[in-house]
Amino acid sequence: MTQTLAIIKPDAVGSGKAGRILAHLEGSGFKVRCMKMTRLTAAQAREFYSVHKERPFFEPLVAFMTSGPCLPMVLEADGAVARLREVIGSTDPAEAADGTVRKLYAENKERNAIHASDSDENASHEIAFFFSRQELLSVFP
Ligand code: CMP
Repeated sequence: MTQTLAIIKPDAVGSGKAGRILAHLEGSGFKVRCMKMTRLTAAQAREFYSVHKERPFFEPLVAFMTSGPCLPMVLEADGAVARLREVIGSTDPAEAADGTVRKLYAENKERNAIHASDSDENASHEIAFFFSRQELLSVFP
């Protein structure tokens, strides 16, 4: 079993799709190991997405990710990183496969309902970004 980080983004939380997305993830075989509701500050969003800081969509992305609450969570499964990326589908819902989270619930390429880590290394960094060791251990000692 390995872990990855997912974030149900502000568009999906704001439009009442979070419960359905969580059910979809659990139904796809993921165990939720830790979860919280939070609202990112601009500084946090800039840091989390710093790899995209030169991209034209960076500032709109920061504005979107700080526009309302989101739900970061640690998910566990066999090959969690690759499996979650398969379950959520392509960044752009117009290109996402049928039955994927983004095909079902995303609005567009930016407001795309969910984030998933893209490698085991980034999953570790991203999990640590949102959850302290104490928080992780307090849920599953
Ligand atoms: P995410 O998986 O969270 O990683 C980076 C995010 O940037 C991505 O989902 C989208 O929300 C956003 N993004 C990526 N490419 C574009 C784009 N071309 N235009 C607007 N937003 C984008």
